[in-house]
Amino acid sequence: MRAEWIGHAAWLLEGKDKVLVDPFITGNPKTDRKPAALRCDIIVVTHGHNDHLGDTVEIAKKNNATVCAVHEIAVYLEAQGVKAEGMNKGGSIKVKNTTIRLVEAIHSGDYNSPKEGMVPGGSATGAVIESGGKVYHAGDTALFSDMKLIGQLYRPDLALLPIGDRYTMGPKEAGWAAAFVEAPAVVPMHYSTFPIIEQDPFEFEEHCKKKGYKGEVTILNPGEHLKV
Ligand code: NI
Ligand code: MN
Repeated sequence: MRAEWIGHAAWLLEGKDKVLVDPFITGNPKTDRKPAALRCDIIVVTHGHNDHLGDTVEIAKKNNATVCAVHEIAVYLEAQGVKAEGMNKGGSIKVKNTTIRLVEAIHSGDYNSPKEGMVPGGSATGAVIESGGKVYHAGDTALFSDMKLIGQLYRPDLALLPIGDRYTMGPKEAGWAAAFVEAPAVVPMHYSTFPIIEQDPFEFEEHCKKKGYKGEVTILNPGEHLKV
C-alpha cells in the first residue's frame, strides 16, 4: 500500500482501493492539492472537526465515494446528499475491497458548519484501514493504554500518530503510543500545520527510541509518501 501524507491528518492510502482519510484540503496551508482533483473510492472521516471533515462532501460527491464515519457524522453527511456508511467504535465494515474498523480515540467530535452552526458529531474515532496494507490512523486523540490492544488485535503495518500537542498527544505521549502499538512503521502527523501546534518531529523520534519502540520512524513532508 502507498500512503501519501497530504498534510495535517489527511492521507491518501492506495491499496486495493483508493482511500482518503480526513480530507481537510481547503484552508490547509500544507497542501496545494485541489479537492476537485482528488480521486478516491472511499473516504474515512475520524471525527467532525473542520480540520478532518474538511472537503468530504465535495470530494465524496465528485467521486461517488462511500464515506465511513461514526453514526452521527454519517447521518449528517447523508443529509448533504453523500453516500455514507454509519458505524461506531469497535465495529468494522467492508466497502469494495477494503475493511474499515473504527477504534477508540479520546477527543471531542462536533462539526462547526458554516451553514448550520454546531452539528453534534458523536464520538471522535481512530480507524484501522485494511486495503492490501493495514494502517492505524489514530485520528485526534490523547494517549490511552488500550492503543496496545489496538496494536495486538489488528497488527497494523503502519501507525499514523498526531504529535501536535494542545488538541492531541504531543511528541512525548506519541512516543509512548508508538511503543504501545508496536507497528513496524510509524509516521507523525497533525503538527506544524498552524503555529499553535508547531512541533519538532525529531523530538517525537527521540521519545519513540526512549520508550524502546523498535520499528521505523519515518518523518515525511506533506506530499511525500511511503510504502507498507
Ligand atoms: Ni479534532
Ligand atoms: Mn484536528
